[in-house]
Amino acid sequence: MGWAIRTGLYCAHITHSQRRIWTERLFHFSYYPELNMNATESCDKMGVNSKIKDVYTPGRTKEEVIDSYNNWADTYEHDLNPDKFRGPVLAANECCAVIPEKNRMSALVLDLAAGTGFLGKELHQKGFKNLHALDPSTEMLEKARARNVYQKFIIKFISEEEELPVNADTYDIVVSSGGMGQGHIPAGALLEMLRITRKGGYIIWSMREEYLRDPQYDGILEALIDNMEESGKWSKIKKRVIPNYYEEKEGAVFVFKKI
Ligand SMILES: C[S@@+](CC[C@H](N)C(=O)[O-])C[C@H]1O[C@@H](n2cnc3c(N)ncnc32)[C@H](O)[C@@H]1O
Repeated sequence: MGWAIRTGLYCAHITHSQRRIWTERLFHFSYYPELNMNATESCDKMGVNSKIKDVYTPGRTKEEVIDSYNNWADTYEHDLNPDKFRGPVLAANECCAVIPEKNRMSALVLDLAAGTGFLGKELHQKGFKNLHALDPSTEMLEKARARNVYQKFIIKFISEEEELPVNADTYDIVVSSGGMGQGHIPAGALLEMLRITRKGGYIIWSMREEYLRDPQYDGILEALIDNMEESGKWSKIKKRVIPNYYEEKEGAVFVFKKI
């Protein structure tokens, strides 16, 4: 198995098409029964996991995170397609659960940390036509723009330090898929998400369940969630843990209503 790991690490440094050709030639589609995948798929998976590890590395600056996504934008949709990553579908389903079909056309929705627009595509297909996208990575947002499902783009990194250029009580839904994690949306930004949501509107996100125990959230995120509920800012409608959110990893979906 050592040779397979070394080959995988080497493969992570060459392009996808080169990788596919070389791997097929070398191993003639040799099969890894224990991983239930062939050499090409195994190589791909290791490459994607190293990109995920890179963007969520603890201690990275905001600029480094943005740079990594700018560099990932061209292959992101291949790497995290809906067969592997269910975050966008799950978040879109929660939006549908809170907004009846007849009201979806007019509901104003912010896709926070929109990336290349996987979630926007899902929402649009489900009847939401009034969509804004916010993300600090210009390259990721260029891909989102090409989908023609968003009316407005906001190039910003949401934080606890600075207000977004958005009026209070603007959105019917602020929703995010995959935006929470080390170096991404900080726990304190929940207050900003709440500020830009209208009274009676919803704040929804999907994330990897294990990220709840990352240092930037552990003992902080859920404490803030409870505190916001106790102080009457929002009510928790749902927290659900979901299997196979990203590959075999569990996810968590949160839904709140602003009071
Ligand atoms: C894993 S991608 C998810 C993209 C998309 N929502 C999806 O489900 O495919 C994370 C995205 O979050 C963005 N991001 C990271 N930190 C952010 C922040 N503080 N505010 C807004 N977006 C952020 C990144 O630029 C990147 O596009």
